[in-house]
Amino acid sequence: MPITFDTTSRTFHLRNDKISYLIRVLENGTLGHLYFGGSLAESGSYGRLSGVEYLGLSNRLGDPVALEYPTPGTGDFRVPALTVEQANGSTALDPRYTSHRVFGGKSAIPGLPSTYVQGYDEAETLEILLTDTPASLEIRLFFAIYADRPVITRAVRLRNIGSEQLTVRCAMSASLDLPDADWEMVQLSGAWARECHVRTRRLEAGSQAIGSLRGASGHEHNPFLALKREHTTEEAGEAYGLSLVYSGNFLAEAEVDQYQTTRLRIGINPEGFAWALDPGTEFCTPEAALAFSEAGLGALSDAYHGLYRDRLARGVWRDAPRPIVLNNWEATYYDFDEARLLEIATAARDLGVEMFVLDDGWFGRRDSDASSLGDWTANKAKLPGGVEGIARQIEALGLRFGIWIEPEMVSQRSQLFVDHPDWAVGVPTRPHTEGRNQLVLDMARREVVDYLFGVLSDLLGHASISYVKWDMNRNITEPFSPSLPAARQGEFFHRYILGVYDLYERLTRAFPQVLFESCASGGGRFDPGMLQFAPQAWTSDDTDAIERLRIQWGTSLCYPLSSMAAHVSAIPNHQTGRSTPLATRAAVAFFGVLGYELDPAALTDEEREAVSGQIAYYKARRDLFQRGRFVRLKSPFEGDGNETAWMTVSADAKRAVVGHYRVLNGPQRGRERLRLRGLDPKASYRVSVWPAGDDPISAANSGVRGGDELMRIGLLVAPENPVDSRSVGDFAARLFDLEAETPEADRR
Ligand code: GLA
Repeated sequence: MPITFDTTSRTFHLRNDKISYLIRVLENGTLGHLYFGGSLAESGSYGRLSGVEYLGLSNRLGDPVALEYPTPGTGDFRVPALTVEQANGSTALDPRYTSHRVFGGKSAIPGLPSTYVQGYDEAETLEILLTDTPASLEIRLFFAIYADRPVITRAVRLRNIGSEQLTVRCAMSASLDLPDADWEMVQLSGAWARECHVRTRRLEAGSQAIGSLRGASGHEHNPFLALKREHTTEEAGEAYGLSLVYSGNFLAEAEVDQYQTTRLRIGINPEGFAWALDPGTEFCTPEAALAFSEAGLGALSDAYHGLYRDRLARGVWRDAPRPIVLNNWEATYYDFDEARLLEIATAARDLGVEMFVLDDGWFGRRDSDASSLGDWTANKAKLPGGVEGIARQIEALGLRFGIWIEPEMVSQRSQLFVDHPDWAVGVPTRPHTEGRNQLVLDMARREVVDYLFGVLSDLLGHASISYVKWDMNRNITEPFSPSLPAARQGEFFHRYILGVYDLYERLTRAFPQVLFESCASGGGRFDPGMLQFAPQAWTSDDTDAIERLRIQWGTSLCYPLSSMAAHVSAIPNHQTGRSTPLATRAAVAFFGVLGYELDPAALTDEEREAVSGQIAYYKARRDLFQRGRFVRLKSPFEGDGNETAWMTVSADAKRAVVGHYRVLNGPQRGRERLRLRGLDPKASYRVSVWPAGDDPISAANSGVRGGDELMRIGLLVAPENPVDSRSVGDFAARLFDLEAETPEADRR
């Protein structure tokens, strides 16, 4: 069993082959944290790890003590995991161990997404009850360990067992005390069209944090952070990961104290948060997933990829091959009619595309972003047969049909706003702040969620829709809900997200065959919370291949290939004005869920042939590109960032595709090689280069190579000679397709 309890030292050991997590009930009943890291022997007695007790304070707390769920006001002066204001105004807490239980599997969290098991033997959960008697507060800590993943998931439930109201001001999903501060903090930060850039800094004394106060996880920081040692690489060294299964305001923080210990915490952002906990009621935090690796950042990512792909995403689309879409947004923006859409769809079908996605502009009077959000009925001038009509015609072409919608929003110029002006989020005494000419609907209100469920069910029920791109294009200002009394306005942001989850839950249950893709102006809400309902997300509005190298690399630190939608678009690129070769755009977009976002009817014959070839290439390797093990080889965030390389490998290591990208070509740089990883050193691989051509790189690499050679010596990726007319020049990309040869013995 992965969870044991040593009654003598009152130590819990959560253990599998990869990790150990040790918790101890200290002498005074406080819950101490002993260890999280590589696997330790099951039989060891680890009680001594609680170390020298801090004698400065009579309650034996104090800064150096490592705690599982720290609280303020009783001797621990570091950032707390839990702050609860009591009826007398005090926020001091000192909860003590009361009881525990261990059960097979793991429990769901009411109203919130979380990772799950498919059988009770996949994971075991430790539930520890702490009680703070003066506050009449029960705290249930949940720690789940999967049998074969280096991950501990955590969540917390608070219960008011008294007769007076409590106010929860901070309730982290997890807190983790580490014994030293010799770490670098890795975060995924950016902006619109520049999401998930990898940023790394050395931990320093004091607090270093990322978070969001936007009402969504946001483009600025992803709800993920990692700690790594200075010399940890992709393939070696220690690393911890913290990831929050949540889509709203979050905080992820590392605090280094006066004794050079590190406290990590992750959860709902306490800024502006206040939850009134009535007597007898409960509050549940979102889930946090903590991962540990002794084999570098690559293994940390493997852990998150497997967990989120296989045990967070749900439904038929979790494992199903994802279709190749043509999205009309960059082809037409708002300017289209039925004939134009059919022209695009027909050309797309002829290229091998499988689904046509009708983006923004199909409803109300939506000819720009100035109106109509909320009026989810077809614009008959553009679509005379309505959504049903266009869906039918698209299907008659042999394609499936998908549609864009932005359910959480309302335009002031819309019938919905005329009918329900009070449904828009806002403070009654202040003017509304518009963003992209739109307001946000109050998802904290049940009637709004019910209304949207009705509208969307109607749409999905009447037209043949196989896919929904659920967008969310602005953050929340003037947070306030008239449905909440003054004392509960601090609940607004969390209740908003609970409303979004409720709508997603009801829709995905009612329409299990529909594939949902989440989007928030690209990656503005690309987080694990969304992945439960929408197994893929629009990674970024930036479709430029070179920008995408960094965006997709960064996103891959936490998220699997199956979650990253990536499209080939036209040049000059609409976000950067850059012109990259068509093959390069495809070679980047292949690593994820491929789509096209251009006018296929406008392609030249040569381009058409190239795109057909790309689609055929992808289809033949779809499982690798969507579900293979993603291995990062050469980082665009290191050195001059001129080169990026990554690969995807099948579970049995028999197939792989390597992508190598060079931003600027440079002459006379020698015989540069790219060493691969994750192959079978004993296997022989047939290597073929894409795009195929009569060029030195193809000549040097094509043929049969040993896995050992490919990993120890590598592929030749030298820059191309600019005087050679076959040189691709700048923005070059090459794919290397590897297929293990069947040994002679097996052939017979
Ligand atoms: C957002 C999305 C885009 C597109 C537009 C439509 O920006 O990220 O992909 O759907 O909205 O308005």
